[in-house]
Amino acid sequence: MLLENLRLHNFKNYKSSSLTFSPNLNFIFGENGNGKTNLLESISMLCYTKSFLQNSENECLKYGEEGFEISGQFKNAADSLNKIKLTYKNDTNEKEIFYDNEKVTAKNEFIGKFPLVVLSPKDTKLTTGSPQERRRNFDLLISQISRVYLRDLRSLNRVLKQKNSLLKSNLVNKRYSKTELRDMIALWNDEIIEYGVKILIRRLDFIEGFRDYLLESFNKIVGSSYIPVINYESDLLEMGLSETPDFDLIRSSFRELLDRKMDFEISRGISMVGPQRDNYVFRMKKDGELFDVRIFASQGEHKTFVVALKLSEFEYINDNLENSNTGKPILLLDDVFSELDKKRIKKISGILTDYNQIFLTTTDYDYLNILRDNFKSNFGAYQIINGEPQFVN
Ligand SMILES: Nc1ncnc2c1ncn2[C@@H]1O[C@H](COP(=O)(O)OP(=O)(O)OP(=O)(O)O)[C@@H](O)[C@H]1O
Ligand SMILES: [Mg+2]
Repeated sequence: MLLENLRLHNFKNYKSSSLTFSPNLNFIFGENGNGKTNLLESISMLCYTKSFLQNSENECLKYGEEGFEISGQFKNAADSLNKIKLTYKNDTNEKEIFYDNEKVTAKNEFIGKFPLVVLSPKDTKLTTGSPQERRRNFDLLISQISRVYLRDLRSLNRVLKQKNSLLKSNLVNKRYSKTELRDMIALWNDEIIEYGVKILIRRLDFIEGFRDYLLESFNKIVGSSYIPVINYESDLLEMGLSETPDFDLIRSSFRELLDRKMDFEISRGISMVGPQRDNYVFRMKKDGELFDVRIFASQGEHKTFVVALKLSEFEYINDNLENSNTGKPILLLDDVFSELDKKRIKKISGILTDYNQIFLTTTDYDYLNILRDNFKSNFGAYQIINGEPQFVN
């Protein structure tokens, strides 16, 4: 997939801008606070229907304006062109997406059509932050290659919301008898098991396949001195389940755990069991020692882990797309070089030509010289000054 051009109107600090992009490297530079990240954010809105920074549409609306519009033309692997437009109106707080001028009603169908991998400074949260950050990251990744997963995930979230609202309201007003309450929760639990098992198995299956991809991108960046390890932690797996997932076994452990924790859930007023509480754990083996990245890695190692993770996401999505016409994901690299030593910057610059279309931001124009060695003349350079992009030769 390639983004050929982009138009922004009243999006963050952009008034009205039109850009045409290179199919290879797009080098976006400018001083702090001029709109480089905003530009990437607008691209993520076209591909994901929402901001990769989790900003609301209202926060993306240029100060004092009534609405914004982002539109772009994509070209897929079969050379067919698609126009995507996203509009937001402040008065109704309404966001609309148009796919070749037709309004998109089912977002499930849309996600994954324009695959995207983003690496931004916020991603340090992946190795340093809470389990929720990692779940969100991998949920988005798996959703881009599996509509079924996205649908199950949405269904699970809907049921959890209903169950939690029942549990919470019960803390305030004891409207139901204990038996009535337990019966109602059991009904929600049936659905939680149904979707939860599918989600868990999909995640385990994902990790199984993803491991090799991560190992390979580590190899590309730092050689074989590090071995990355990802594990999945879940109360359900602690109940003696083996690495090879068995549908029926997980289902019965799930039910047992939900039954066992029901009184606890009632007293706490919140769901305590399910994949919404699981964790992906990152470890690295270096000089024969296996250590937890979150606790022991140095700043540069954190960054290296995240860069390798994102590059392997690219390859993983690429190999697992449902529709082969879609073409390779687009890669957004926001400030990727900061905090890395020269050797790793050179190494990463050297392998970037292996990827598809790239949008790379930096405050430092000099990096273009390193990239030029690899991309030759296959790039476009843009300077952003106060929300105004300028094509630079
Ligand atoms: N809704 C908005 N309306 C107008 N301007 C906004 C809005 N939201 C953010 N901005 C402005 O956008 C600018 C930040 O842009 P951005 O984050 O893209 O900068 P950047 O070029 O990536 O900088 P850095 O190099 O520091 O990362 C800030 O000055 C901010 O005030
Ligand atoms: Mg920025």
